[in-house]
Amino acid sequence: MTSPTPAPWWRTAAVYQVLPRSFADGNGDGVGDLIGLRARLPYLAELGVDALWVTPWYPSPMVDNGYDVADYRDVDPALGGLAEAEAFVREAHDLGLRVLVDIVPNHTSDAHAWFQAALAGDAAARARYLFRPGRGEGGALPPNDWESCFGGPSWTRTIDPDGRPGEWYLHSFAPEQPDLDWRNPEVRAEFLDVLRFWFDRGVDGFRVDVAHGLVKEAGLPDGLGRDRRTEEHPGWDQDEVHEVYRAWREVADAYDPPRVFVAEAWVARPERLPMYLRPDELHMAFEFEPLHVAWREGPWRRVIERSLATAELTGAPSAWALTNHDVVRQVTRYARSQWPERGTNETERARWGSEVPDLALGRARARAAALLSTALPGLVYVYEGEELGLQEVEDIPSARRLDPIHARSGGRDPGRDGSRVPLPWSGDSPPYGFSPPGSPEPWLPQPPGWGPLTVAAQEQDPDSTLALYRRALGLRRTLMTGPLEWCPTDDGLLAFARGTTVVWVNFGPDAVPLPAGMRIALASGPAPDGVLPVDTAAWLVPDEEDPR
Ligand code: NOJ
Repeated sequence: MTSPTPAPWWRTAAVYQVLPRSFADGNGDGVGDLIGLRARLPYLAELGVDALWVTPWYPSPMVDNGYDVADYRDVDPALGGLAEAEAFVREAHDLGLRVLVDIVPNHTSDAHAWFQAALAGDAAARARYLFRPGRGEGGALPPNDWESCFGGPSWTRTIDPDGRPGEWYLHSFAPEQPDLDWRNPEVRAEFLDVLRFWFDRGVDGFRVDVAHGLVKEAGLPDGLGRDRRTEEHPGWDQDEVHEVYRAWREVADAYDPPRVFVAEAWVARPERLPMYLRPDELHMAFEFEPLHVAWREGPWRRVIERSLATAELTGAPSAWALTNHDVVRQVTRYARSQWPERGTNETERARWGSEVPDLALGRARARAAALLSTALPGLVYVYEGEELGLQEVEDIPSARRLDPIHARSGGRDPGRDGSRVPLPWSGDSPPYGFSPPGSPEPWLPQPPGWGPLTVAAQEQDPDSTLALYRRALGLRRTLMTGPLEWCPTDDGLLAFARGTTVVWVNFGPDAVPLPAGMRIALASGPAPDGVLPVDTAAWLVPDEEDPR
């Protein structure tokens, strides 16, 4: 009798998201790099994650934190270059850690050789992008009414080599990020080759940036005022995009072991998401609702129910994340009054000046949320610094902010830099061990007061957030194996079982007595006298069970 094939590693993995420029600076220039990351690999192995997702490491002018790629087959020399990346992949594998990298197929950097050739008038190169004549007299108006996701129009006019105003090109994000034309077979062939380039170097998979955006509606019709981020729009989610992923899946499946894709796919109609997760397309898509859902029982329950229903329908696991490099860190989101259902990046950041955050409260809730998200079926993504309970850095001076959202909003929106501040490793003042002594200041300023949040400080404290994450990621492997079954409870208490383990999260106004016959295997905060306090989560096991 043959034993059943084990489920592939990624179906239940814990994946740590690394923003390499903010993780650890090995060469002392104030910017994180792969030397620093390699040196800290044992920290990540000890944390208990199964894989790392490294956000774009390619050569880049860094207009959008590396999501403006100038060369897809190389690694930025500032990060250490290709040889350093290959050494990193080998060493991660030696420690049992898989490596996912980011692929950015919707747009290149304007510094990419293709776009430079396009600007110089090369017809084949122009046909790889979306150049169009303008509307109105002399073509002075953009070809359609689309807005950029970073604010302002989605079009920029070019100057022809003879100095006269020329056509416009489409950029769904910053002007320095021209969109590719995925109806062009050369574009499709190029990315298949890029995938192979990295798979041949041992990379285990890709996170696919803007996976829903590659193909635009033919003819690029007006969006007629629809909000690109929330409504159906001709710039997103076209049926033809699925041909792209079928071809990608064939490439990934030809490797041994097969390589994996996780989609960043925002779709206006949730029922369209499963199309990306068909068995011959992408392996999973991030569950994005937890990035914005209020710290309340009802909204969280609905999010979990919806995600599990999608997983049931598609067979793709839920990919949970509480935060990432695009959103306000959860300690800060939970430190202010909670939205009825969910906020957005914009609504969160808009209230920074007017509502003082209670960070102790935010941190307690973030710890409870960690025990909730790591207890759910599927994968869990942990964004660097989340395991330290870092808050959003709200007071970065405007002149130091780099996110194009800040400048393009005329300074009204602070943008995303506050979630990307370099990590604190040790010591009581900046750079908190992020850079070697004597280095220039880190590329984004770190706040005062992070001494108690450093890795070194938290390693000494068995009640620290770091200790909680280590314990949760370890215990999750044995305690969170069965399917999720809801337990009937009173309002405000979220409770479910996974096999014999029971998970309680107290969102309510009062402490609740814990069930008889169970004991706490792990709790997000003190839970004395047999009760679960407010804003606290606990993993409970039958009295006789010994969780290891
Ligand atoms: C999603 C990435 O997560 C974000 O950081 C980036 O700005 C956009 N895609 C554009 O590439």
